[in-house]
Amino acid sequence: MKRKPFIAGNWKMHKSIKEAAELANEIKRRFYDFDRAEIVLAPPFTALAAVADIIASTPVKLAAQNMFWEKEGAFTGEVSPLMLKDAGCSYVILGHSERRAYFCESDENVNKKIKAALREGILPIVCVGERLEEREAGKTIEVVERQLRGALEEIKEEEARKIVIAYEPVWAIGTGKTAAPNQAEEVHKFIRETIGKLYTEDTSSDILVIYGGSVKPENITFLIKEEDIDGALVGGASLESDKFIKIIEGAVLDV
Ligand code: PGA
Repeated sequence: MKRKPFIAGNWKMHKSIKEAAELANEIKRRFYDFDRAEIVLAPPFTALAAVADIIASTPVKLAAQNMFWEKEGAFTGEVSPLMLKDAGCSYVILGHSERRAYFCESDENVNKKIKAALREGILPIVCVGERLEEREAGKTIEVVERQLRGALEEIKEEEARKIVIAYEPVWAIGTGKTAAPNQAEEVHKFIRETIGKLYTEDTSSDILVIYGGSVKPENITFLIKEEDIDGALVGGASLESDKFIKIIEGAVLDV
C-alpha cells in the first residue's frame, strides 16, 4: 500500500492573527476527525499559538516555517526549537528555497537545523529543488543529490525516518508552472533511491517525499497518482480554505 498522503499548507508571510484563525477554523470544520491524510498548517510565527489553540483537539498538525538551531541565547530575531514546541508545533519547514535564496541558508545550516529539530522532537519538512537555470543545464539530479546528502549528513537512520522530504523545483514555486507529474516523479524516485543508498530499503520505502510548486485542486490528483509522490507542500492555494480543502480531498481520492 502506498504511504498515507501528507498535505501541508505553507502560508509564508501572509495572514494576520485574525485571518489565520479564520482560515484554521474553516480547515478544522471540514477535517476535525479526518484521518485519511496528515494535514499540516504552517502559519507565520505570530499566528502559531492562535492556530495551535484552534486545532488542538483535532488531527490537524502545526508547523513553523523556519527556526534557529540553538536552544536559547543572544540571537536577536531568532526562534528556537523549544519555543516552537512551546507554541504547539509538531513540524518545522526547513531549507525552503526562499530561505536559501533570500536568507543565505546553506546545506550546512539546513543540516544543523534538522539535527536541532529532531533533538527536540520536532519533525522536519526538508525542502530541496533545482533552479530553472540548473534544470536547463541538466543539473537537476546533481543539485537535488547535493542538497539531500547535505541535509542528511550525520543523521542516523532512526532519525532520518522521521523527516519529510519536499521536492520543490524553484521554477514551479508561485509561478503557476507545475512540474508535469512524470517529471516530478523522476526526481521523487531518485530521492527515494538515494535514501535507500544512504540507509536501507525499509527507510526508503517508508519515508515521505512530497511535491511542492503551484499545487492546485486541478493537478493534485495527477501528482498523487505517481508511485513516489506522497503529498504536497502547498503555498498560494493553501491561503484559501476552499482550494486547500479540495487539494486534501483530491489527495485521498484513490488511496
Ligand atoms: P506555491 O508554493 O504552491 O505557491 O507554488 C509552494 C511552496 O513554496 O512551498
